[in-house]
Amino acid sequence: MEGPGLPGRMAAAPFDAFGWAHAHRTEVAWLSQNTNHLVPPEVVQPAILEAVRERRYEGYPPAAGLPELRERVREDLGLPEGTGLLLSAGATESLYMATRALLHPGDEVIASDPSYLIIHRFIELAGGVVRPLDIYAPPYKLTAERVAAAVSPATRMVLLIDPLNPLGSGYSAEEVRAIAGVARDHGLYLVHDVTYRDFAPGHTLAAGVYPERTLTMWSCSKNCGLAGMRLGGLAASAELAKEVGRFNTNDLGVNILAQVAALAALSTKSRWFDAVRATTRANQDRIRAAVRSTPDTFLPVFPSAANMFVIDLSATGVSPEALQRELLLRHGVFVRAGNYLSKTHGHRFVRVSFSNPPEDVERFVRTFPSTVEALRRSATTAGPAAASGARAASPS
Ligand SMILES: Cc1ncc(COP(=O)(O)O)c(C=O)c1O
Repeated sequence: MEGPGLPGRMAAAPFDAFGWAHAHRTEVAWLSQNTNHLVPPEVVQPAILEAVRERRYEGYPPAAGLPELRERVREDLGLPEGTGLLLSAGATESLYMATRALLHPGDEVIASDPSYLIIHRFIELAGGVVRPLDIYAPPYKLTAERVAAAVSPATRMVLLIDPLNPLGSGYSAEEVRAIAGVARDHGLYLVHDVTYRDFAPGHTLAAGVYPERTLTMWSCSKNCGLAGMRLGGLAASAELAKEVGRFNTNDLGVNILAQVAALAALSTKSRWFDAVRATTRANQDRIRAAVRSTPDTFLPVFPSAANMFVIDLSATGVSPEALQRELLLRHGVFVRAGNYLSKTHGHRFVRVSFSNPPEDVERFVRTFPSTVEALRRSATTAGPAAASGARAASPS
């Protein structure tokens, strides 16, 4: 069977892609959220089951997090003893806390476009103003020169997502040092979001260069395959972590099952992550071959330093929403339309993630070229509206 098939009534809009995908989750190749489906289940399941057997869920965990987990996180990041650490329900919550705690109305934050726009929303909620630098052209990432040129008297923070969701661009040690140098020269906070760090062939923490005002946002969602558990946090100087911690709502600690799972995964990661990275890398090679065989589509960034990249469709006339919908409903392949990741360029691309079993990627590879072609044909015979698809109302 090719995929879960068409629902009985397709006409009603808006189409809730996430609702549909969750309802069919056992049949869907989930290439839409950069989640990691390659971590061997035996890494975390025994730890979770043991915690359940012990009924640890009945009590509160230590408020600051399990001491051994805190130590593991610090070691995993390679940060020195005495580093301030906050654990939260995913990095998302720490990003929210940091923007709330450090930004005041009118403060500007230098960021990129495309980007992980949820963080931009948090900045705006705190009264801040996002100054997105358009990076949808080579080298498809921020440079120290452009960041420096964008600094104004109102600038208070730089957002560096590294590797970058959605493009997959990575930053070299020199590039990180140079951007951290600009932040230091102007006394700016540097939010270094390292959610996809482990997928990169090499990675440098800005905190090593500019410890005073760097906030390292870490997550167990992608490297440890624990997105559903919701565990992440921030690392910063003890003083800065304390300042952000004023806004910490986890006074009673973070989910204990998530903590034991993260501890089990981080303690063993060095044994299994190379295999995850190798499969992820082979998957992106196969996707590239499919993109190459699809006229007028291209990958702005290859290879990706993360577990995702974007496929540019703009020359095909096919809308990302239409492609997302067709791949999902007809083939059970869930990719993400670009409007979630860029207001300016989102109409040009879909994002595809690939830390998945090869058979999921195979389904994409088999169906992407023909689906683009079919949508393209319907656009030329019925006018552009036919290829535009319904807007997906999706929560994450
Ligand atoms: C750049 C970036 N930061 C943070 C997150 C969220 O991480 P978490 O699941 O730990 O909240 C994501 C999720 O996709 C992301 O892409």
